[in-house]
Amino acid sequence: MSDLALLDGKRILLIISGGIAAYKSLELIRRLKERGCRVRCVLTAGGSKFVTPLSVSALSEEKVFTDLWSLTDEAEMGHIRLSREADLVVVAPASADILAKMAAGLADDLATTALLATDKAVLVAPAMNVMMWVHPATRANVTTLEARGVRRVGPDSGDMACGEVGAGRMSEPMAIVAAIAAFFAEQAPPRPLAGLHALVTSGPTHEPIDPVRYIANRSSGKQGHAVAAALARLGARVTLVSGPTHEPDPAGAAVLRVETAREMLAACEAALPADVAVCAAAVADWRFEAAGQKLKKEGGGPPRLVLAENPDILATLSRPGPVRPRLVVGFAAETERVLEHAGAKLRRKGCDWILANDVSPGSGVFGGDSNAVHLLTRDGNDVESWPRAGKDEVAARLAERIALHFTT
Ligand code: PMT
Repeated sequence: MSDLALLDGKRILLIISGGIAAYKSLELIRRLKERGCRVRCVLTAGGSKFVTPLSVSALSEEKVFTDLWSLTDEAEMGHIRLSREADLVVVAPASADILAKMAAGLADDLATTALLATDKAVLVAPAMNVMMWVHPATRANVTTLEARGVRRVGPDSGDMACGEVGAGRMSEPMAIVAAIAAFFAEQAPPRPLAGLHALVTSGPTHEPIDPVRYIANRSSGKQGHAVAAALARLGARVTLVSGPTHEPDPAGAAVLRVETAREMLAACEAALPADVAVCAAAVADWRFEAAGQKLKKEGGGPPRLVLAENPDILATLSRPGPVRPRLVVGFAAETERVLEHAGAKLRRKGCDWILANDVSPGSGVFGGDSNAVHLLTRDGNDVESWPRAGKDEVAARLAERIALHFTT
């Protein structure tokens, strides 16, 4: 993942302690902001001897926090919240003094109080004179902090502001940005489906009877939308073709909204090629030859409704050919002899896997929040029964199975 993708939207609490390198922190703020980070700054008394609150606040576009005892800050934010409402706390420059206080657990100003109160990871970018850096006290403090999980970038070696040469220069802003990105890369969930395109269908279809009436079914789209979200979380590029539902668009999926089975098929075919297709939609098997005008109750009895068979999307996607997805997964909604009927469906439609769910009255699967599925593979010869779980959980488990399929 690029630095941009890793850093976009991340909340950084930047603590600027006293040291000539504080001027580089202004550049660091700019680089983080360019990458979409929200940067809140705490300036220590020492730090404010080198950079002004005004320049820090202008670059961060945020209020700068300086005083533990400011009643307004405590009322508006509080040092605990300040330290917790961040994804990472960065101390740059980290002077010998602040490293010593961190190691000792002192909390005598806003910066050290926030550092003691935080439940987030901390990255330090030490900056000090070479003799201070090699002093056994600093060495011991750094060892203590690293043993507690504090991360470190630098210091670099070279000419120092004090005229001496050696280790102690704060790392350059871009090296600190890289260390921050590396931290978030480690935290990022694995994306085994990165580079793959997943096509998912969800929800019911509406088949018109006339311009104002239609037949539908009770599918809410919860299961299909959850599958789309789970595949996107594992890194897939997801196209979700959805019938009419009230479900919000899942994060990370491109959503195409359709009404009828024929529209759903057309949208699916237009979205090909895909590496994997999951058909969770409850597609109407039949449609009406819809009347052009609203049907009237004219005393001659109910109208004669003529049904025609809808195309089968799952069977169409499963057909061998150059654009067949490498893995085609269907769902089977059954009310009796669930495994037997689901296995027959898998073979008839030619898909690779099918998830059988019992949708008998009382099961609460259509429209409900949980599901109990059986995963049939190998022409229906292998059956895995999953315990009833939330539809999100079922989706996550399916996405992991799909990832396993593509990675082994
Ligand atoms: O939407 P929810 O309220 O969360 O409910 C979830 C669900 C019960 C709808 C879902 O878990 C489910 O079972 N989806 C499939 C419903 C269905 O239509 O099952 P079926 O057994 O009739 O069809 C078998 C498969 O063929 C399905 O993958 C279906 O998408 C597909 N199909 C069916 C008919 C058709 N014309 N085209 C198809 O692609």
